Amino acid sequence: MTHLMKIVLCGDGGVGKTALRERYLGRGFQSKYMMTIGADFALKEATIDGKAIKFQIWDLAGQQRFGAVRSVYYLGCLGALLLFDVTRQESFENLQLWIKEIFNHNGKGVIPLVVLGNKVDLRDSGAHPDSITDEIALRYCEKLTEQTKNHGFSVKYLQTSAKSGLNISESFDVLGKVYFEYLE
Ligand code: GTP
Repeated sequence: MTHLMKIVLCGDGGVGKTALRERYLGRGFQSKYMMTIGADFALKEATIDGKAIKFQIWDLAGQQRFGAVRSVYYLGCLGALLLFDVTRQESFENLQLWIKEIFNHNGKGVIPLVVLGNKVDLRDSGAHPDSITDEIALRYCEKLTEQTKNHGFSVKYLQTSAKSGLNISESFDVLGKVYFEYLE
């Protein structure tokens, strides 16, 4: 039996949702920015702890002005990858707004989330001394877990780079694992 899991990729415009998805689909990395309008959709199968899962991946437009279009895509989704850009403080602060939007519109309320600090290749280059550290991000996820643990899951954090490929398939695997835990 294959579990079908609809998931959404969320986060501010330009944080790297499309790049992450393309990398996960094995399509490499594009340094040119092409804004997503509305949403984009892809399917990918994976095996997690011996269980077959098919991810239906919705990559939502991050720009604020697409809010009304975006809300319809959340319905029926069972998990979310929540991205911020480690070099952009504001994208980290806005995670709270994204979580609210996801929980308000998916039809079930609190659903599994994994937080991804993307573009760590830029942080590691040393050019962005004000970057969000893993320590700050982990502390934030511990706080979120206080709200989600009654719902049967904790919020995990991974640092990613769609450019280098760091932790890309791991991000989806972790979300799938959290979802299986949540089902039990
Ligand atoms: P919206 O469609 O507006 O919501 O943006 P998005 O979140 O889908 O961002 P997108 O994937 O289009 O990436 C925005 C820009 O950041 C592009 O120029 C990407 O090449 C770049 N980018 C994405 N991920 C990374 C990364 O891990 N490292 C670096 N250095 N650049 C990245």
